[in-house]
Amino acid sequence: MVLPIVAYGDPVLRKKAKDISADYPKLKELIDNMWETMYGAYGVGLAAPQVGLPVRIFMVDTSPFAEDEELSEEEKKELARLKKTFINARILEEKGDEWAFNEGCLSIPDIREDVFRKPEITIEYYDEDFNKHTEEYKGLAARVIQHEYDHIEGILFTDKLSSLKKRLIKGKLANISKGKIEVEYRMKFPELKKGR
Ligand code: NI
Repeated sequence: MVLPIVAYGDPVLRKKAKDISADYPKLKELIDNMWETMYGAYGVGLAAPQVGLPVRIFMVDTSPFAEDEELSEEEKKELARLKKTFINARILEEKGDEWAFNEGCLSIPDIREDVFRKPEITIEYYDEDFNKHTEEYKGLAARVIQHEYDHIEGILFTDKLSSLKKRLIKGKLANISKGKIEVEYRMKFPELKKGR
């Protein structure tokens, strides 16, 4: 089932999400629904707060990036195979010189901006069967994970912009939370007035 994606301005996007236990109710169903919601919106990642749940679950599928001609064969391979659910994740380390990439977010439609992040991460997480993993990622794969990880920490990519950029997009962000935007997928807007 496709779930509505919570739009910018909803307080759930600002909560530090909580760990879940293996007996979290209907976990498998939730994960299936989140995949369906993500693919339905042509996203490469989705975090539970974006469907209204302040819990530490997110998923990424970076395969759409694997076609990019400019990437190395090694990077294409890594992007093609990264399709995972991350539960109770903790980024243990981020390193390297920050690099910019134009990011977007399903909760913030129609805004794309360059965001600086470190290129290498070490992350610890549980998969959907609650097996623990510690893995390293770099480049675009790390980038998508960092963006989704920020969601479970209550952080949005727009927080990372310069104060000038923030001022420039302020009006657009306000319109998004009021639902004054055209979107191709189901969304829930925090300030949408009834009867509009
Ligand atoms: Ni996002």
